[in-house]
Amino acid sequence: MSSLTFRPAPAVAGTVAVPPDKSITHRAFLLAAISDRSVVVENPLASEDTAATLAAVAAMGAGVDGDVGTGRVVVAGRGLRGLTPPPVIDCMNAGTLMRLAAGILVGQPPGGVTVLDGDESLRRRPMARIADPLVAMGAAVSPAPGGTPPLAVHPGRPLHGTTHDLAIASAQVKSAILLAALSAEGETWVREPVPSRDHTERMLRAAGVDVRERDGMVGVAGPVRGISLPDILVPGDFSSAAFAIVLGVLRGDPGVRVTGVNLNPGRTGLLAVLRRMGADVRVEPGPDVAGEPAGDVVARCGGMLQATEVTADEVPAMVDEIPLVGLLGALAAGTTVVSGAAELRVKESDRIRAVVGLLRAVGADAEERDDGFVVRGQMTLAGGEVDSGGDHRLAMLGALAGIVSAAGVTVHGMEAAAVSYPGFVGDMATLGAVSG
Ligand code: S3P
Repeated sequence: MSSLTFRPAPAVAGTVAVPPDKSITHRAFLLAAISDRSVVVENPLASEDTAATLAAVAAMGAGVDGDVGTGRVVVAGRGLRGLTPPPVIDCMNAGTLMRLAAGILVGQPPGGVTVLDGDESLRRRPMARIADPLVAMGAAVSPAPGGTPPLAVHPGRPLHGTTHDLAIASAQVKSAILLAALSAEGETWVREPVPSRDHTERMLRAAGVDVRERDGMVGVAGPVRGISLPDILVPGDFSSAAFAIVLGVLRGDPGVRVTGVNLNPGRTGLLAVLRRMGADVRVEPGPDVAGEPAGDVVARCGGMLQATEVTADEVPAMVDEIPLVGLLGALAAGTTVVSGAAELRVKESDRIRAVVGLLRAVGADAEERDDGFVVRGQMTLAGGEVDSGGDHRLAMLGALAGIVSAAGVTVHGMEAAAVSYPGFVGDMATLGAVSG
């Protein structure tokens, strides 16, 4: 386990191009595998999560040329129902891989069973939320007792369309259902309480699928004969950019520019929250990338932030950025409250408990609620020692807390950042937030 101390930096400035988008990279590999053609994925995210997906795609029989570290991977698709699933797929830490792969596997021809497994963290995450809707479509999918991985999937059962009312907005669950719908007889519809990110829908449309919208639902009429995914250039990840943006808001002088970031509105909810808090953030839109809005974000320190309230309707578009709201709240005037975010308890860690624990460890006044947290803002953060608990976003939150603290923060388990942002410390150094 690696420990790193992040010392206070009074001012940061510069330009960074954050790593490619994790959600889009997972989808590009998985959809390429079931495509009728060979797909070039340009600028995939090089991380442990996406390497797991590429390995899974190869294990399912797709041709793979290159690896995530080479900046360009060619995936030779085997067609919508042409994969040869292996007995076991190790999804490592990647919930997106496990959930989307289940949706693809149920549509494959009969023969054998595939067990989707993962690391200790993934083994604690809820999978009944995908097993139940897939079973309702006729699939044979069974999690372990308690509804967690390993998840056994028996491909080849006849699937039929149904309407799914999701209790919780989830792009992973929605995507698993839509991918199964490609091989289901009739119409499949998904309704979410609040729309989640729509990368899968955009990519399926680009691949020639008629993804429909009706009465606040999204749907597909199946079975679809095949999909033809075009080559994909992966844009920068907003969730990674969020760390540089928040640092820019707290310490950016003259400012921090993040280039080439995916600006899908299902991802950028943090920007509205930042503006509400009085932050100086500007978006400079550029050309679309991979059928998604993209551009630069410029953030600078513009004085004292005001506390805010984040409620359930805002959570899906910033689900991975909520930990950063805790840090912002700790340095804002007033009391910041996050509610309707119980979903955070079943991410890579219990992120409500972990965020509150981390904030307290560095001197903030924070408290857990069942579905969120309360942070009473103060002028400074003392600093201290924190543990990532193996959660990448917590490791980076600890680092940021150190950079904006009075005495610095030592983060144990900093290596977890590699799950989504292997170049995090280097990018912080580029901005002058980390020296030596
Ligand atoms: C993801 C969706 C989100 C997010 C996760 C990646 C995706 O989860 O937290 O990091 O790629 O679809 P849910 O939408 O399932 O909550």
